[in-house]
Amino acid sequence: MTPVLSLQELAADIAREAGELARLRRADGFLLAATKSTLADIVTEADREVEALIRARLDAERPDDGFLGEESGGGEGTSGVTWVVDPIDGTVNYAYGMPAYSVSVAAVEGGADPNSWRPIAAAVYAPVMGELFTAARGEGAWLGDVRLAVTDETPAGALLATGFGYDPATHDGDLVTVRQIMPLARDLRRSGSAALDLSYVAAGRLDGYFERGLKPWDFAAGALLVSEAGGVVTRFDTASARPMLIAAGAPLHARISGILDKGI
Ligand code: IPD
Repeated sequence: MTPVLSLQELAADIAREAGELARLRRADGFLLAATKSTLADIVTEADREVEALIRARLDAERPDDGFLGEESGGGEGTSGVTWVVDPIDGTVNYAYGMPAYSVSVAAVEGGADPNSWRPIAAAVYAPVMGELFTAARGEGAWLGDVRLAVTDETPAGALLATGFGYDPATHDGDLVTVRQIMPLARDLRRSGSAALDLSYVAAGRLDGYFERGLKPWDFAAGALLVSEAGGVVTRFDTASARPMLIAAGAPLHARISGILDKGI
């Protein structure tokens, strides 16, 4: 088995190269390729080009591994390792010229289904900010060379983040969830990039994060960052179309779960 630290190094190298390509393409001018399921669900030419670059590098360097990407789907491998990739997480921000987008690259064991996988290496790169978050199973989480740790819950309230589904039919439910959680919050953010939200929980810039309906590529890397920074990440309602993901330090995680587990 390849050491997790060399998988982390590869994830970081690829995420950095892919992020620089995304940044340059944005500077060249923005091309909307298509609206997908709803107005908020879009893909740009850059999403496709960046994913193609990541896939080509992994095919060249790890030909026996599986792959699951937001734009080009999946391919089975034989090594037991699968790469789960979001080429641009925060595509709407990217399209509007906002800096909060990232490249998310994770290596997982146990297949691409998040109900059975075990993330082992991760990188999230935010090219506009020039920030690279990395983690390897059992080795910790890092921003550059600074080791990360989640916050302990602050008694006066937590800084939380969330996101909303693409489908307008889900918005009422998401807003009910927000109303249930607000008594715990100092304030609430919606950055538009789940991978960055999770990276920020790992870095202690946010106390906690919750969102329904995330796709595997949105959270594969970020989930490892949070757990390697000492936090807890859980998903429930996994049989539904919109599982709930909660990520925070243990005490806050227990409080959020205590509220949301009761359902809407
Ligand atoms: C989206 C972002 C957003 C989250 C959505 C995701 P995309 O990913 O992570 O923050 O709220 O649920 O789908 O489409 O920009 O890769």
